[in-house]
Amino acid sequence: MMILGIETSCDETSAAIVTEGKQVLAHTVLSQLAEHAPYGGVVPEIAARSHIDTLNGIIEQTLAKANVGYQDLSAIAATGGPGLIGGVIVGTMTAKAIASVHQKPFLAINHLEGHALSARLSNAVEFPFLLLLVSGGHCQLLVAEGVGKYHKLGGTLDDALGEAFDKTAKMLGMGYPGGPAVERMARVGNPYAYEFPEPLKGREGCDFSFSGLKTAIRHALAAEKKLHDGVRADICASFQHTVGQIMQDRLANAIHLFKRQYPKGKTLVVAGGVAANQYMRSIFSEICADHQLELVIPPAWLCTDNAAMIAWAGVEKFTLGLTDSLQFEPRARWPLAEAETA
Ligand code: KG4
Ligand code: ZN
Repeated sequence: MMILGIETSCDETSAAIVTEGKQVLAHTVLSQLAEHAPYGGVVPEIAARSHIDTLNGIIEQTLAKANVGYQDLSAIAATGGPGLIGGVIVGTMTAKAIASVHQKPFLAINHLEGHALSARLSNAVEFPFLLLLVSGGHCQLLVAEGVGKYHKLGGTLDDALGEAFDKTAKMLGMGYPGGPAVERMARVGNPYAYEFPEPLKGREGCDFSFSGLKTAIRHALAAEKKLHDGVRADICASFQHTVGQIMQDRLANAIHLFKRQYPKGKTLVVAGGVAANQYMRSIFSEICADHQLELVIPPAWLCTDNAAMIAWAGVEKFTLGLTDSLQFEPRARWPLAEAETA
C-alpha cells in the first residue's frame, strides 16, 4: 500500500508518500513563513492563494522523488479540516481531482487525527494512549482509543499553547512564528525573574487557560523602563517555566483519569508544533517518569504541520477499509471527539 498525503490547512503546503510499512518514500514541505511574516501571523487569503500556486508542483516533485506514478498509488489522502477553509478547499479539491482522474479512493483526514497518529508512524505505539495536542490552533488532552475513536478529557478555554508562545513573542517584538524564538531566548534568561499566574492550577479536570498569562506579560512589560534582550530573555524563561508548571498540574490530573479508565494504557503522546520545544520535552519526560508512563514525541519534522502524518493517517484508515466520498465537504471546524465537543 502506498498513499499520497496532502496538507494545506494552514501555512505549509506539503505532500508525502507513505507505505503501510511506515516508509516515508518522499516528503516535501514548503513553508509560507516569509509571505506571512510582515503581518505577524497567517493571513488566510494569502495562504489560500499560495497553496493554489504551489501545490501541483509540490505533488509532482514528491512523486518524482519517490519515483512513483499516480497509477502506483493505493489512495489519495488530504486534510479535510479543521483549518483555514481556503487552504483546506485547495487541498481536498486537488486530492479529489487526482482520485477521480486516476480512479483511486479518496480519504479526507482530520488534521488533528494526523497529529495524533503521527506517533504511530515514528514509534510502535498501541491504543489506547493519552494524547496531548499542543499546536498553534489547538490545546487538548484526549484518549486515542483507536482510529477515528477519541475521548476528550479537556481543552483550552481561551488560547492554544502555540498561540500563547506566538503572542508572547509578538509582545516582545521577536517576530513570527514565536515558539522557536521564545525557546531560544529563554535559554539565556532567568526562569524565576517574573512570577506569572498559573490559571486553573490546583483545580479539578484537564482544561487549560493561557490568556491570564498573556495579560501578566503585558503588565510586566509596561513596568520595564526599557525593553532590551536581558528583559526579553527573563520574560521568555519565566513564561516557559510557568507553562511547564501549568502542564505538570494539568497532565497529572489527565494521567490519573487515564490510568483509572484505561488500565491497559501505558503511553503519553505529545504532538503538534509546541512538542518541538526542548524545554517542554524535558517537562514531559519528568512527568512521565513520575507517573510510570512511556513518553512518545514524534521527531520535530513530524510535530509541525506536514503531509507525512496525513498520508500515514490515510494508511491507518485505508487498512481498516475506510474511504470517503468525493462529496466530502471541507470543514473549517472538525472536533476530533465529535460527541463531546460538537
Ligand atoms: O502544529 P503546528 O505546526 O501548526 C498548527 O496546526 O497549529 O504548530 C505551530 C505552532 C506555532 O504556534 C508555533 O509557535 C509553535 O507551534 N511552535 C513552538 C515551537 N515550534 C513551533 N512553540 C514552542 N517552541 C517551539 N520550539
Ligand atoms: Zn497542525
